[in-house]
Amino acid sequence: MPKWLENAVFYEIYPQSFCDTNGDGIGDIQGIISKLSYIKDLGCNALWINPIYDSPFMDAGYDVRDHKKVAPRYGTLDDVKELLEKAHEMGIKVLFDLVPGHTSDTNEWFLQAKKAQRNEYSDCYIFTKSVWDAPPQYRLMCGVCERDGNYLINYFSSQPALNYGFYEVTHPAWQMPSDCKEVQKTVELIKDIMRYWMDLGVDGFRVDMADSLVKNDDEKIATSKIWRGIREMMDKDYPNCALVSEWCNPQRSINDGGFHMDFYLDHYGNGYSTLFRYLVDDENKSFFSDNASGSLSTFLDEYSVNYPATKQNGYICFMTNNHDMPRATFYMSNDMIKLAHTFMMTMPGVPFVYYGDEIGMRYQTNLVSKEGGFSRTGSRTPMQWDSSKNLGFSTADESKLYLPVDKSEDAPTVENSIGVEGSIYENLKTLIALRHQYSSLANASDFELISAKEGENQLVYKRGEFKVYFNVSKDKKVIKLEGKGEVIFSLGDYEIKDDTLTLNGTNALIIKE
Ligand code: NOJ
Repeated sequence: MPKWLENAVFYEIYPQSFCDTNGDGIGDIQGIISKLSYIKDLGCNALWINPIYDSPFMDAGYDVRDHKKVAPRYGTLDDVKELLEKAHEMGIKVLFDLVPGHTSDTNEWFLQAKKAQRNEYSDCYIFTKSVWDAPPQYRLMCGVCERDGNYLINYFSSQPALNYGFYEVTHPAWQMPSDCKEVQKTVELIKDIMRYWMDLGVDGFRVDMADSLVKNDDEKIATSKIWRGIREMMDKDYPNCALVSEWCNPQRSINDGGFHMDFYLDHYGNGYSTLFRYLVDDENKSFFSDNASGSLSTFLDEYSVNYPATKQNGYICFMTNNHDMPRATFYMSNDMIKLAHTFMMTMPGVPFVYYGDEIGMRYQTNLVSKEGGFSRTGSRTPMQWDSSKNLGFSTADESKLYLPVDKSEDAPTVENSIGVEGSIYENLKTLIALRHQYSSLANASDFELISAKEGENQLVYKRGEFKVYFNVSKDKKVIKLEGKGEVIFSLGDYEIKDDTLTLNGTNALIIKE
């Protein structure tokens, strides 16, 4: 297990929208380099960068055309090398995105596989026996290739699924068993890509749809086995590199698959969703919501099982948001976001900050979909740096921007957030600094629930020598004080008397014994 994960705090960068240094209206690698000290200053010591590979961008780069080529719009391989060198000099790790489940339909592997003539890539994708063979339970592209067969897609139509075989073979005429030697070739192709980037200095990967490899594998037995093999390669040759899965099942991902980290994703109605973004009839009914109507029970039921079961082996990752869901500002006020950040930064695991969340960037509604973003487009708008042209993102004409910048008068920017007492930025920066200062707030101590009474909108937990208190209601609350100590963080007014703590509404407090 890479030691650096113990106190890692990640910053996710959607490269299109972060910082444009060549004035073409789209972010680039030099832009990321130019902002490394900003990221470091916030306290983040690791990056996850969404795909920067050559792509036709039908799905924002999750449709890879050439895994070993940097998309020209972002820069060159030399830019990547410079990024890695400068980031490492500053103590920042860099994770790239790995998309093992599918490629673009313009990828050379697929161009070969769809040919009628058999060749070395014919088995790398999943084709039915003939075009007349199209079982409705599979998502197939039909009748579009020279090859006589329909192919399985993983996500959008432009993303043919790579072939890792089937755990349960229901159509033996065209489904290969997951343990046959033909599909091992796909595993080797992916390992080769991983090696290529890790040899160059990349510190690991965020793995896209990590559970999607083997088909008809409900229990993910064969999929986990593949990841175990990849973990063995990493332990042997890249022991300092890390993998984080887009899976949201830590017992399978971490314990079975050997991932170092697993994202707690926003799946409607699950623990993450009911903590932060649970819309019922357009009203946010999550625990961290302004109407304080939510419950912690779903989260606690999940976490009280998953956390103890996986904590010896890896980390569950809370994220402020990501490029696939509306920003937190869509669901809650800035004050509530500060409470949510307090929670995320004082929980075990490895937290991820999505670019712009540190200043409370808003989810932009009514945008025309960009590069397969659809409802996700509103969370992918340009980073808001300052009050200059295009809020400092780019010098290009407005019409050339990847996406429009937030046009509101009071658009938050880095410039108008830094140094402002009570800003989301200053609050988050303080919390990250505390996490770095006290290892108990990161991963040196366990999470112990002290109280979370149903319907009371309050939560108290212990992390080593710390107690963390939350009052998510608008009203003052009197809470039993769990031992004395020094207040090292508070979001608002409070009073401590004997063994009671009176916490004003929408407030959180950290007390150190
Ligand atoms: C998950 C990624 O986060 C998302 O952006 C992408 O569209 C799909 N996987 C398909 O690769």
